[in-house]
Amino acid sequence: MMLVVVRVGVCVHIFMLFHFACLASHSCHPEESSALLHLRTQLITNTTFYEDNYYVNRCPYIYPKMRMWANGTDCCSWMGVTCDSLSGHVIGLDLSCSGLVGHQFPWHQFQYLDLSFNLMDDDISSFFCNTTSLEVINLSHNRFTGTFPQCLANCSYLTDLDLQMNNLHDTLPDIFKHLDQLETLNLNGNQFKGLLPKSLSNSINLVDLDLGNNQFEDTFPNWLQNLSTLEILVLRGNKLYGPIANLKSENIFPILIIFDISCNNLSGSLPKAYIQNFQAMKIVGDEVQRRLVDYIDTSFGAIVGNILPEYDNSVIATVKGTNTPFAKIPTTFVNIDLSENKFEGEIPDDFGELHGLIGLNLSHNRLVGNIPHSLGNLTNLESLDLSSNMLTGDIPTELANLNFLEVLNLSQNQLVGPIPRGKQFDTFSNNSYEGNMGLCGLPLSVQCNNNVPLQQYPPSSEAEDKFGFGWKPVAIGYACGMVLGIGLGFYVFSIGKPQWLVIMFGGKRIKRRRRGNRRARTT
Ligand SMILES: *[C@@H]1O[C@H](CO)[C@@H](O)[C@H](O)[C@H]1NC(C)=O
Ligand SMILES: *[C@@H]1O[C@H](CO)[C@@H](O)[C@H](O)[C@H]1NC(C)=O
Ligand SMILES: *[C@@H]1O[C@H](CO)[C@@H](O)[C@H](O)[C@H]1NC(C)=O
Ligand SMILES: *[C@@H]1O[C@H](CO)[C@@H](O)[C@H](O)[C@H]1NC(C)=O
Ligand SMILES: *[C@@H]1O[C@H](CO)[C@@H](O)[C@H](O)[C@H]1NC(C)=O
Ligand SMILES: *[C@@H]1O[C@H](CO)[C@@H](O)[C@H](O)[C@H]1NC(C)=O
Ligand SMILES: *[C@@H]1O[C@H](CO)[C@@H](O)[C@H](O)[C@H]1NC(C)=O
Ligand SMILES: *[C@@H]1O[C@H](CO)[C@@H](O)[C@H](O)[C@H]1NC(C)=O
Ligand SMILES: *[C@@H]1O[C@H](CO)[C@@H](O)[C@H](O)[C@H]1NC(C)=O
Repeated sequence: MMLVVVRVGVCVHIFMLFHFACLASHSCHPEESSALLHLRTQLITNTTFYEDNYYVNRCPYIYPKMRMWANGTDCCSWMGVTCDSLSGHVIGLDLSCSGLVGHQFPWHQFQYLDLSFNLMDDDISSFFCNTTSLEVINLSHNRFTGTFPQCLANCSYLTDLDLQMNNLHDTLPDIFKHLDQLETLNLNGNQFKGLLPKSLSNSINLVDLDLGNNQFEDTFPNWLQNLSTLEILVLRGNKLYGPIANLKSENIFPILIIFDISCNNLSGSLPKAYIQNFQAMKIVGDEVQRRLVDYIDTSFGAIVGNILPEYDNSVIATVKGTNTPFAKIPTTFVNIDLSENKFEGEIPDDFGELHGLIGLNLSHNRLVGNIPHSLGNLTNLESLDLSSNMLTGDIPTELANLNFLEVLNLSQNQLVGPIPRGKQFDTFSNNSYEGNMGLCGLPLSVQCNNNVPLQQYPPSSEAEDKFGFGWKPVAIGYACGMVLGIGLGFYVFSIGKPQWLVIMFGGKRIKRRRRGNRRARTT
């Protein structure tokens, strides 16, 4: 919140400076002044907008900017109007947060157009057909309908296109080969569907690509790897499916710092080749911080907005679980979210080399094997969620080295042994570990006895549903085991005690006793 306020302050300051500069050098062209005044008569506002908490909480100012425009004054000094400092022509219009409603709008030859956070609901399918000069278009957080505006193919100077949080639908046209200046493309939170447009691989200047929370149905776009300037890739909340190919290339997304492909239908093993090539994520420091604020605003804002009817600007909370606000504002924000897919196999050690990582979420997959000890090298990690997998083995004591770890979720796995103590580990509650039968020690009430739990508690029904091996098969297994055991016991008795049998079933006997305990507690 603080950060946002500060940023707004700075922006306002810069905005004012520009205006004084304009005033000093040029006054506005009269025909443009009257065109703007004419435009104002066509704009319709909804007064309830100004009391709507959704917008009040998100807008730095909530005010119909054009209401201050006065005939006879220099239009370059008008609120929301930007003029070219040399020619004096109006080149930009910012009517964000102005309470505008649908059906307003002549698209002039602007370079910069910001209508974000309004209530506009026009069908924009055939917009922008008369404009070629637009460089920045921000129609985010409105109610625009229709399909992706095809005519944008003619806006070859376009660098930023933000259409997030609208009601746009249908497939994306394959026009991006015409938009090779594009740096930001944000379509998060619409109803776009179908294949991801392959021509995006021609937008070789893309820095921020966010197609999250749509209905895209495709395999993972390996062909995006050519975009060597990409820093942010968000494909979460679509219907992407199938395995991610293990590419041989050694130059995959070298400067990516945010990789969010969660909540899809992706399968196969975790994309090891990608993880090995995320060079920027191996760097710790300030180099990767400049995109932070933008990303939080444009992406996480949208996501939280979907989940909660209202949220404040401390949206990073989602990254760390909903009820956990950030204690400090991170200087860098390096995040990998592969959660809620169908990834299987083991967690590669290679994650441990991404020393810049702040958030890692691999939860809700089908991962097996041990938690790699190398994760203890991720000393900047603030949030680690490995919950709802099938991980086994014990919790590496190296994880206690993670001094900044604020959120840890290892619940709903099959981990065993004592929970590490000390440092950050003393701050996690038992929620971080629930649904692991074999864990013991504080903060669980189950005490350790020679590194194994002294007693057991029943498995949660959630774990049963997810992995399909719940209480009932265990009971059946126990029954079968008992029959087998009695049979073997009889055999052992009748032929003496072969040493191999005693060794082999020595451990099993303890297990059977435990299962017995468990049944006793559930019934
Ligand atoms: C602005 O004022 C001028 C005269 O000062 C007038 O001719 C013109 O019609 C006015 N424009 C609008 C849009 O009111
Ligand atoms: C484009 O310009 C033509 C003529 O200049 C005009 O008739 C048409 O309405 C304009 N279309 C849009 C969408 O602004
Ligand atoms: C580009 O603009 C021309 C007119 O200048 C128009 O005929 C054409 O349809 C436009 N192309 C696209 C893809 O919108
Ligand atoms: C995921 O894939 C399965 C088939 O493998 C399909 O039944 C299911 O509907 C898919 N889910 C989504 C959200 O696409
Ligand atoms: C569009 O506007 C919103 C809200 O003002 C802002 O958060 C976002 O960064 C803008 N998008 C671009 C691409 O500048
Ligand atoms: C990890 O991802 C899951 C599913 O996408 C989400 O519910 C959870 O809140 C995330 N964990 C953290 C710590 O953000
Ligand atoms: C990472 O951790 C592993 C195991 O804990 C250790 O052997 C290795 O030296 C560490 N590597 C780096 C680069 O810190
Ligand atoms: C951990 O993740 C599980 C689901 O995987 C979730 O139900 C639980 O609330 C999470 N706990 C914490 C402390 O985040
Ligand atoms: C978790 O902690 C609470 C108290 O904080 C305790 O009542 C509960 O029994 C604990 N649960 C387990 C499984 O240890």
